[in-house]
Amino acid sequence: MTSNRITRHPILEIPKRKAVEFRWNGQTLQGYEGEMISSALMANDIHIFGHHHKDNSPQGMFCANGQCSQCMVIADGLPVKSCMTPLRPGMAVQSLEGLPALPEDDKVPALKEPPRRDVEVLILGGGPAGLSAAIELGKLGVDTLIVDDKSKLGGKLLLQTHKFFGSVEDSHAGTRGFEIARILEKEVRDLDSVEVWLNTTAVGVFSDRIVGVVKGNLYRKIKPQRLLVATGAREKMLSFPGNTLPGVYGAGAFQTLVNRDLVKSSNRILIVGGGNVGLIAGYHAIQAGIEVAALVEALPQVGGYKVHADKLMRLGVPIFTSHTVVSATGKDRVEKVTIAALDKQWKVVPGTHRTFDVDTVLIAVGLAEVNEFFFKAKEWGMEVFSAGDAGEIAEASAAMFTGKIQGLKIAKSLGLYEGEIPKEWEAKEKILKSK
Ligand SMILES: Cc1cc2nc3c(=O)[nH]c(=O)nc-3n(C[C@H](O)[C@H](O)[C@H](O)COP(=O)(O)OP(=O)(O)OC[C@H]3O[C@@H](n4cnc5c(N)ncnc54)[C@H](O)[C@@H]3O)c2cc1C
Ligand code: FES
Repeated sequence: MTSNRITRHPILEIPKRKAVEFRWNGQTLQGYEGEMISSALMANDIHIFGHHHKDNSPQGMFCANGQCSQCMVIADGLPVKSCMTPLRPGMAVQSLEGLPALPEDDKVPALKEPPRRDVEVLILGGGPAGLSAAIELGKLGVDTLIVDDKSKLGGKLLLQTHKFFGSVEDSHAGTRGFEIARILEKEVRDLDSVEVWLNTTAVGVFSDRIVGVVKGNLYRKIKPQRLLVATGAREKMLSFPGNTLPGVYGAGAFQTLVNRDLVKSSNRILIVGGGNVGLIAGYHAIQAGIEVAALVEALPQVGGYKVHADKLMRLGVPIFTSHTVVSATGKDRVEKVTIAALDKQWKVVPGTHRTFDVDTVLIAVGLAEVNEFFFKAKEWGMEVFSAGDAGEIAEASAAMFTGKIQGLKIAKSLGLYEGEIPKEWEAKEKILKSK
């Protein structure tokens, strides 16, 4: 099984995985057991997962993070987000054409009272912020439960193949992102009072101060004394003609495909956005053997670190500053993208249009906090805290510091920690968050 699979990578090991058969619209295909359905489809060169019920436009993946619903398919009769649903042997997967059909039987099934779990601290999200908080809580013996909707701990760290900056002591500088995830996970797993539920999605925070989660297929209630929201960020979209075509993805989705799932989803890409996420996605693409046609940035200079921009340019990628994307075109997926220069009033300069043959346009124009649970919990009067990108968008090192600080603040609020929050942690948090 080699089609659209990354079989050699300069940094990542290629793990041995169990190949299984599944069906896509009646056709038998191969995938790996446990990988996300969307990755199995894209590895088989399938990029159109269905058609929209309003205008019949083709739909494909956008976020690969469970945040947008653009990747819906029907799996064994049920509508699911394909980027969040693991592949099982023999699974029958169909494209979602319009709205999913309702079952013929409209009787309400008998509902059982869902199991309830009481816990001192519930952490939503097992990225660097949630894990760092759990480590502080676990060291103090606080009864802590982490829930994360992915199959592995680490959050966005799992997508980062580059070595981090900063200080070794504070934020594992010099270590690659996915390796930092392993280090934090090991620390958490060694703590007796911390439990981890993976493949578990928080779905609501209710007026009785219960958090509802779906673990596997089972709905459960959790009653925490303290709630920490560390759910990270979602990617922002940009409005332009053709932006819903399959092949227009978030840069994080692309990193998920190439670095986590080892799927070579594209042959030639153009990146929109010159912050760190866009710049780094550029060399993640090159590591995966994917050509980068260009990177465009609307501002007169890139916003990410110069070292990342220089590295990309050394690898032969042209960077067009004061430029924007004008349109993406293609029959059923992206085939071409057009960019143009912007004047000082952010208007497209006539006659500056250039068109590139690409199969993918990566959107890296910023992130937005996933903070709905935080505000809902506040509304219901819960003792709620937030850490990492869910509180304020920054980098992984800042997420680790806010996690540590919030962990101690929570323990203090429970009367389980009498010391002070180290002043130098707060100072470092401020520095790491400064842009
Ligand atoms: C696309 C992208 C690329 C990035 N690239 C870099 C980079 O190259 N270098 C760098 O230093 N920083 C990078 N960052 C920033 C860095 O990864 C983040 O700042 C850091 O991971 C934030 O940590 P966190 O713990 O707050 O959130 P995350 O790492 O995002 O972790 C949050 C976790 O919560 C889970 N979650 C969300 N909602 C739910 C729910 N309802 N139920 C259960 N679990 C849920 C998520 O699946 C995830 O596992 C990037 C961020 C993004 C979004
Ligand atoms: S929810 Fe799957 S691509 Fe966004």
